[in-house]
Amino acid sequence: MSELVVVLDFGAQYVQLIARRVRELNVYCEIAPFYTSVDALLAKKPKGIILSGGPMSVYAEGAPKVDAKLFRAGVPVLGICYGMQLGCELLGGAVKGAPAREYGATKLTVTSAEKLFDGLPADLDVWNSHGDSVQSLSADFVPLAKTRNSPFAAVKHKSLPFYGVQFHPEVAHTPLGSEILSNFLYKICGCEGTWRVADFIEEQTAALRKEIGDRGVVCGLSGGVDSSVVALLLHRAIGKQLTCIFVDNGLLRKGEYEQVVQAFRDHFKINLRGVDAKKRFLDGLKGVTDPEEKRKRIGHMFIDVFQDEAKSLKGIEFLAQGTLYPDVIESVSSFGGPTAKIKSHHNVGGLPEKLGFKLIEPLRAMFKDEVRKLGAALGLPDAILWRQPFPGPGLAVRCLGEITEERLKTLRDADAIVTGEIEAAELSRGLWQYFAALLPVRSVGVMGDERTYQECIAIRCVTSSDGMTADWARLPHEVLARIANRIVNEVKGVNRAVYDVSSKPPGTIEWE
Ligand code: XMP
Repeated sequence: MSELVVVLDFGAQYVQLIARRVRELNVYCEIAPFYTSVDALLAKKPKGIILSGGPMSVYAEGAPKVDAKLFRAGVPVLGICYGMQLGCELLGGAVKGAPAREYGATKLTVTSAEKLFDGLPADLDVWNSHGDSVQSLSADFVPLAKTRNSPFAAVKHKSLPFYGVQFHPEVAHTPLGSEILSNFLYKICGCEGTWRVADFIEEQTAALRKEIGDRGVVCGLSGGVDSSVVALLLHRAIGKQLTCIFVDNGLLRKGEYEQVVQAFRDHFKINLRGVDAKKRFLDGLKGVTDPEEKRKRIGHMFIDVFQDEAKSLKGIEFLAQGTLYPDVIESVSSFGGPTAKIKSHHNVGGLPEKLGFKLIEPLRAMFKDEVRKLGAALGLPDAILWRQPFPGPGLAVRCLGEITEERLKTLRDADAIVTGEIEAAELSRGLWQYFAALLPVRSVGVMGDERTYQECIAIRCVTSSDGMTADWARLPHEVLARIANRIVNEVKGVNRAVYDVSSKPPGTIEWE
């Protein structure tokens, strides 16, 4: 087992970034909720523990805490923002905390390098996002750095291996943040930095074999990179004990079904069950125009179809899903309750309880770009590896208004043009997603000498690093012109194409 660092999640917006920065520094890192017991944490034999930031004040009633014995276990702990205030409070260091708001870029002056700031300049640009700060400190602590509003912007305990920083070293706006984290990992925790993606594959393969034994696993394949990587990992671990189910719900893109079957069944020789459920989904969506209702129905129908198929397989005990970290944080908070629900994502929850399966989610701690690295190492073809994210409810959330076979065909044809032209212009790698949406309006046009009254296609191309925020892509005008021209000429029933120039927020990437 390679070196491990655990990030305890106190509900911070940036918790996933911390884990990712640590992994970028070649140390494996996992996130655990703040209420994980100290014994369970120590049983993982971490080289270091990072306490994340969080939205609460440590002085507030019900503020999330850890058992103070964590600091006495001999494992180095780094508290970031809330994590620093918590550590200082629990170790009797924060004699006085006070409101001192600091948001955004701040100048930090290092007064004592003490390993954490080794090799760094005394004046650093850092990013802050806090409402409280430690205003006076007991003699058990040594101050390491200050800012204009925080006299103790970084601290160290005199006898215990606890360090705290009030700012956020994990964000890109703290330019030398990775160096600070690197000092913590290498100079304080004594990590060697041996972790590589290939190790993750080896470790997961061994762990999956151990967990699954000789039992069966079913995996819902969507054709996207996440579920594909899960399928390949499992295939590597348990071979024929894995059965993949791929449901054609009639909401797939052009040629998608054939491509997935070809890659998994013919190329990788994975047991793959293709299910033709096109009619069932179309019938179930008849007359439905409300976006949430569409999502709900599709989610339920998907569960039903999947359940029917899975039941007919023998000896299945586990269900594998390609849940990634961003899916997890958009669905639950570390406080156990739901965060503000924006859309019902349908790949998290629902299925396992209904089916009585145990859930396997080997990518739960991963980000998309990390999953792509895994996929490449596992030999996933480029066409799937670099496939843009595609939502579980498929074309249904891009076909605004009523879903009919005819409207789906219109959308599919237009989407193939958008995709084809973007790829032909070699723009796809710079984009997060590029697709067509069919709008629920008709508009007047003129073709030849005839008045037309037809459907309208929206072209949506966005840049993003994680799907949480996004901006519309500044595509070359000639590419947009070619796409629009081809859509109105080649797609029957469409006389107008528009380009969506909304960012997220306030828009979302998908239209529904
Ligand atoms: P929005 O539209 O919320 O989408 O900005 C953010 C990212 O999530 C994808 N998406 C989904 N993915 N199941 C998924 O697996 C879903 O139900 C779902 N809805 C949206 C969307 O394509 C974008 O990449």
